[in-house]
Amino acid sequence: MQIPRLHPDTIEEVKQRADIVDVISEYVVLRKRGKDYVGLCPFHNEKTPSFSVSPNKQMYYCFGCSAGGNAIKFLMEAGKQSFNDVILDLARRYQVPIQTLEPEQRQQLQRQLSLREQLYEILALATTFYQHALRQPQGQQALEYLQSQRHLSEATIQQFQLGYAPATWETIHRYLVEQKGKPVQLVEQAGLIAPRKSGDGYRDRFHDRLMIPIHDSQGRVIGFGGRTLKDEQPKYLNSPETPLFDKSKTLFALDKARNGISKQDQAVVVEGYFDAIALHAAGITNVVASLGTALSIDQMRQLLRYTDSKQIILNFDADQAGTNAAQRAIGEIADLAYSGQVQLRVLNLPDGKDADEFLSHHTNAATQYQQLLLNSPLWLNWQINQLVMGQDLKQADQFQQVAQEMVKLINKLEDVNQQSYYINYCAQLLSQGQAKLVPLLVQNLQTQIKKVRTTPITKSPRLIQKPEKQHSPLNLPLGSEHNLLEQAETLLLRIYLHCPEYRQTIIDTLDSKDLLFSLSHHRFLWQQILELQIIADKMVSESPNPLISLLQDRNIQFPDQMAQVEHLFHLNEKYSEDIIRAPLVIRAAAACLEMVAQEKHRRYCLEQWQKLDPSTDLKRKEYYCQELYAANRRLKELEQIRKIQFSDITELSIF
Ligand code: UTP
Ligand code: MN
Repeated sequence: MQIPRLHPDTIEEVKQRADIVDVISEYVVLRKRGKDYVGLCPFHNEKTPSFSVSPNKQMYYCFGCSAGGNAIKFLMEAGKQSFNDVILDLARRYQVPIQTLEPEQRQQLQRQLSLREQLYEILALATTFYQHALRQPQGQQALEYLQSQRHLSEATIQQFQLGYAPATWETIHRYLVEQKGKPVQLVEQAGLIAPRKSGDGYRDRFHDRLMIPIHDSQGRVIGFGGRTLKDEQPKYLNSPETPLFDKSKTLFALDKARNGISKQDQAVVVEGYFDAIALHAAGITNVVASLGTALSIDQMRQLLRYTDSKQIILNFDADQAGTNAAQRAIGEIADLAYSGQVQLRVLNLPDGKDADEFLSHHTNAATQYQQLLLNSPLWLNWQINQLVMGQDLKQADQFQQVAQEMVKLINKLEDVNQQSYYINYCAQLLSQGQAKLVPLLVQNLQTQIKKVRTTPITKSPRLIQKPEKQHSPLNLPLGSEHNLLEQAETLLLRIYLHCPEYRQTIIDTLDSKDLLFSLSHHRFLWQQILELQIIADKMVSESPNPLISLLQDRNIQFPDQMAQVEHLFHLNEKYSEDIIRAPLVIRAAAACLEMVAQEKHRRYCLEQWQKLDPSTDLKRKEYYCQELYAANRRLKELEQIRKIQFSDITELSIF
């Protein structure tokens, strides 16, 4: 299939509507810092956040690994998607009409898009059908189950759109295909029917089950969980993976919990559908359920979007399965938890009950549950408690093993204060109530704990920029000062990009001496700048810096080259200092560039001078000799300018 070419208007409109914070926060937990947002970079491993997202500029940048760009580039890299796919996804999400360059392709795209729309519609019809069946004589038993065994009110049954799938094999099939005229393939794709194993035709996936619709965060039904009313296996039959439904990315009741999570500034995750339903019914509305799968980082990020202080409480069953699920979930966000970006707590209800059982067994249960949430231990305390649980610390070998596991956990902490808190906490547990032993145990643990730095040393991003590979070695006597050249060119480009008022000065300075950028990626960028500057000047744009926005588009055409210069599009505080001193910096940097040119010229003159025979070419030999002197003189002057100016700047830790 030929890839449809999207109309530039569509691309532009998508770029206008897609908000970078919105897009990225699906992948990265972002916290507000000043005007920008920061989080852990998804493109490299890190423990302290150096990834920043600017809503003003609609760009992201990682000061650790130099990954950066706009929302579209982010999605291309994070989702390994093509440019077209990203634009199409975003267009869908922000309801931008798709236009292509060729009309036939447009139809084809519309068809692709409408598949999802049609599946939503089929699932919505099925939901109403099941709800209706619950109110028919055949649904009587199911309704009674909800009312008497689950103690659910009419309002809750309505709110969750609970229903019943009749005990026949072709009911939903007949309803959707014959009565509603839906194409049978689509009903199959929606996960409601499956081809019969023997013979022709289809059979319903769900029959004689209590139907629990699963909604996406915007409240559209994307699948079902069906609970048996007898003792059939499986207890819950769920929709298969469909174009709309992915268990590992979905959280049950998120659509109903979003507000509650924001208000409480905290999200609770339970294991079962009915745990979530019962808690909502009891007025605890910041609750979602996982769908019988391990809680993934994707799912947790979805939750974290709604809580500013990033609090999640896992209320899993206290049995082995629940404990394992909690451990796995902790493992998924260990990085975020250890670096303090997420406040993760674990609640195990007394007597190994799940939330639904707890609520139906206690009077005043909602208040008690809230109290238990408040007192639930932080994830690390919970993990440490788990270590001790069921162990006999009076036995030397078990004591030894528990202590070792404790040390392992504490060693992952990066903060000294936290370390010492947990050393004490563990010593208390190990002492088994013998207070006298605590100081000794503290010392014992301390000797096994890695020393951590009291103040974290943050690497300067300059030191970790991508190593320069492509340009040819200059081999100047400047030697190690090649670095200086890289930095000088970087400074000029950065000032050019971020300070429109100095653009002319830079162009004039370079022009007057015929100076060029020596490093190939800088030359590449400069060429793009010169091309796009003309367009940018003509643009009536709302963007504060249309040039940068235009340059970002070159990412698509020249991904490799652009990756090398991406870091120039972003400013942090230190770079901002460069910019305050722009005139000084421009002169110094230009001197540096000129030195490179002079040095080349000097070497050329020297070569010529050595080659020439004074008996035949005296005139030319003298000329090169003079040029050599001139070049040397100029180099000395430039060295002075550079030294004075750069040493001045160095104080500001620019180099
Ligand atoms: P549980 O087995 O803990 O059941 O499954 P529960 O929610 O307490 O069920 P009730 O109270 O007996 O009705 C927890 C979750 O795991 C998934 C479902 O999402 C369920 O809510 N699960 C469980 C399945 O998908 N299939 C199963 O067969 C069992
Ligand atoms: Mn239960």
